[in-house]
Amino acid sequence: MTDPIPVHREGNWAVGTSRGADFAVSRRCRHQLADLSKGRVDADGCLVCPWHASRYDVRTGAMVDGPQGFFGYRGPTPGYSALVLAYARHLRLRIGRAVRRGGRITVE
Ligand code: FES
Repeated sequence: MTDPIPVHREGNWAVGTSRGADFAVSRRCRHQLADLSKGRVDADGCLVCPWHASRYDVRTGAMVDGPQGFFGYRGPTPGYSALVLAYARHLRLRIGRAVRRGGRITVE
């Protein structure tokens, strides 16, 4: 099993590396606006929200798995998760152009 890869903040962007490629996506989760720069990249290369574990494809900005909870609750919420996933199809994360300079990822 691979350890999750940390994500960082670069201005209004969450930046990191997924499947060997640098990425930049907008920072606010489409569920309840958690800061995605505090998330992690999982073994599948998806960005995982730090609050309720929604997962995003960083190449497209699409949510690929809905939240596992809401507000202070963390746990299974199958119907709710599917509902959020459905509306998030229309609210993808923005994609920035990630550029690596001196070992640091910046966004153009
Ligand atoms: S705020 Fe991101 S999954 Fe809930």
